[in-house]
Amino acid sequence: MGQFFKGVAEFTKDPKMQALNDSQKVLFNAPTIVYLTLQKGLTQFSILDLGALEMSILLAAKSHGVDSLVAYECVKYPDVLRKFLKVPENENIVIGIALGYEDDNCINKFRSEKLSLDEACHFFN
Ligand SMILES: Cc1cc2nc3c(=O)[nH]c(=O)nc-3n(C[C@H](O)[C@H](O)[C@H](O)COP(=O)(O)O)c2cc1C
Repeated sequence: MGQFFKGVAEFTKDPKMQALNDSQKVLFNAPTIVYLTLQKGLTQFSILDLGALEMSILLAAKSHGVDSLVAYECVKYPDVLRKFLKVPENENIVIGIALGYEDDNCINKFRSEKLSLDEACHFFN
């Protein structure tokens, strides 16, 4: 087995990775999932509007004490969703937002590293 595949094998044995995989399979046990769709044929800038809506939903949820997880996993099978949620053919299913209350599963302890303000923003006078 090459070094790369050894690395992948080790990585997937990590209990946190297994917990994440298990959790993804059941869509994070979220009681509610919000699906965001975008009409086909709009300009590419419309994705900005959808992103703003997404952020508003996340903030509104948080303000009500509801936790959220934006996940590709929720929209991995768009054909199935389209059928069961009756999403019209002229709309793309872009992303899903899992909503619920965080439990003590180790995946909920994960915090992504963020760039510092100086790294992320350049200010010009
Ligand atoms: C577009 C997008 C898709 C994502 N899809 C998944 C996913 O399918 N599964 C997952 O565990 N996390 C996914 N994430 C990551 C989580 O939503 C979240 O960003 C991560 O848990 C870190 O959270 P934090 O950045 O608020 O710390 C996705 C994030 C984005 C922006």
